[in-house]
Amino acid sequence: TRTPVNVTVTGAAGQIGYALLFRIASGHLLGADVPVKLRLLEIPQGLKAAEGTAMELDDCAFPLLRGIDISDDPNVAFDGANVALLVGARPRTKGMERGDLLEANGGIFKPQGAAINAHAADDIKVLVVGNPANTNALIAQAAAPDVPRERFTAMTRLDHNRAISQLAQKTGVPVSEIRKLTIWGNHSATQYPDIFHAEVAGKNAAEAVSDEQWLADTFIPTVAKRGAAIIEARGASSAASAANAAIDHVHTWVNGTADGNWTSMGIPSDGSYGVPEGLISSFPVTTKDGTYEIVQGLEINDFSRTRIDASVKELEEEREAVRGLGLL
Ligand code: NAI
Repeated sequence: TRTPVNVTVTGAAGQIGYALLFRIASGHLLGADVPVKLRLLEIPQGLKAAEGTAMELDDCAFPLLRGIDISDDPNVAFDGANVALLVGARPRTKGMERGDLLEANGGIFKPQGAAINAHAADDIKVLVVGNPANTNALIAQAAAPDVPRERFTAMTRLDHNRAISQLAQKTGVPVSEIRKLTIWGNHSATQYPDIFHAEVAGKNAAEAVSDEQWLADTFIPTVAKRGAAIIEARGASSAASAANAAIDHVHTWVNGTADGNWTSMGIPSDGSYGVPEGLISSFPVTTKDGTYEIVQGLEINDFSRTRIDASVKELEEEREAVRGLGLL
């Protein structure tokens, strides 16, 4: 029998947490044969609700779930963690400036990074979901100097999945026929969903669509502003789809991409594609045996270059801002 994998989830009592925990416990995160232990981190006000969720997890009698611990202390919650899903964050409230938002999140992600550094397992993999995800990942990474820096990643998989779905609907194929789509840059409105290297049923997607106006005026803004559209329609932000994307991100990282396909992950740049080294930016990546590699050699046309550069510029500004706050 395998030793259980310790999965730490922060913001466990939130709406993404509620959609996420049951799927982790039922084997969707790591595989149907991998037992898991859940470590839930919440702030004190969230502990009671987290206990309620833990009661429901018990009531599912999931065969793979080997235990649930709940804590408001990051040093306890990250102890022995193999996978950490950093979901809890400080949301932007009306009238809040970006500097204030980054500072408030620094107060969350810096101590969590330090706790990961001190207590997580050697093979720790970190996914940051809480926004601003890329820069929060950078803050946590900076506080964890003993953890290999490539273990800190940010979620753009929801954007990736949204783009696949939009492209499939436009071209009238099932989503399974869409391959090699890329999200570049920041998980924000500046992100760039790139179809120039994507395939629709084996054919080049940009040629299959052959409609640059749709690309510029419909596809890109629909993907980039989907979060706001969900809030408008549902009266609450995306939760089940965000949880699903977190599951996909970690599952792909651990279990690998399929031959002839890739995925999108926010990862520390090695300087590829002109993205300054160290920024946590979204790239096309292949994964294998728990490691990932940036897909190299893609030709970037002017249409893409302008948009990638704009999103990367925003990431650089966020990095400068958190540097100014002493968080890096
Ligand atoms: P929510 O407000 O329902 O839940 C957040 C939970 O985090 C709350 O229970 C809160 O008590 C907890 N929390 C706050 N600070 C904490 C801390 N220091 N330690 C532990 N827990 C803490 O929010 P929701 O809807 O679950 O979203 C969570 C985050 O995910 C938000 O930042 C949201 O913007 C982000 N998000 C990111 C997406 C992406 O694609 N990267 C997609 C959708 C949401």
